[in-house]
Amino acid sequence: MSNTDVGHSIETIFSAGEILSRLQVLAQEIAAKRPENLLVVPILKGSFVFAADLLRALHAAGIAPEVDFLTLSSYRKSRSSSGQVSILRDLDLDVQQRHVILIDDVLDSGRTLAFAKDLISARGAAKIETCVLLDKRAARAVSIEPDYCAFTCPDVFVVGYGMDVGHRYRELPFVGRLVD
Ligand code: IMP
Ligand code: MG
Repeated sequence: MSNTDVGHSIETIFSAGEILSRLQVLAQEIAAKRPENLLVVPILKGSFVFAADLLRALHAAGIAPEVDFLTLSSYRKSRSSSGQVSILRDLDLDVQQRHVILIDDVLDSGRTLAFAKDLISARGAAKIETCVLLDKRAARAVSIEPDYCAFTCPDVFVVGYGMDVGHRYRELPFVGRLVD
């Protein structure tokens, strides 16, 4: 358990070492399918650390994708989903006829990834897959399963490894549970 200077305690759920070794396996899984014309799309902001490590693991596994970013918002400042997903910043690249892998930090209600899948599909992608760091299965509001998932996660609010509460704790190298 680590204490922070703004009065939160954070209990580690997945350590930095655990995450990195799991990502090697995930990258091998993706590489084994020999993806062609691959475009990797991290959904910002929460997935930036996960995506950075996964992309380097993919490189080590011999995969050379193009990368573009999509910034979506559903959480805003609160800890629970507003239910409304909106595009804050769109992709630069055309996805037509491409194999797209969407990367997200947490699959929670499922609304964010379902929205992103629909968006990319409507733009004519040839194949769309999803890859998440954490799957909070118990929190699902819409029907969606990840194609690749690093860890199944209990239905608790987590921070670190890119994930925040009020823009804090993204820098932590591990995933932790916020204990008030
Ligand atoms: P969904 O649309 O409910 O599936 O929510 C997915 C998004 O909510 C993720 O991309 C995260 O950014 C955010 N989110 C969900 N759970 C957590 C959490 O425990 N900590 C931080 N962000 C979360
Ligand atoms: Mg997110």
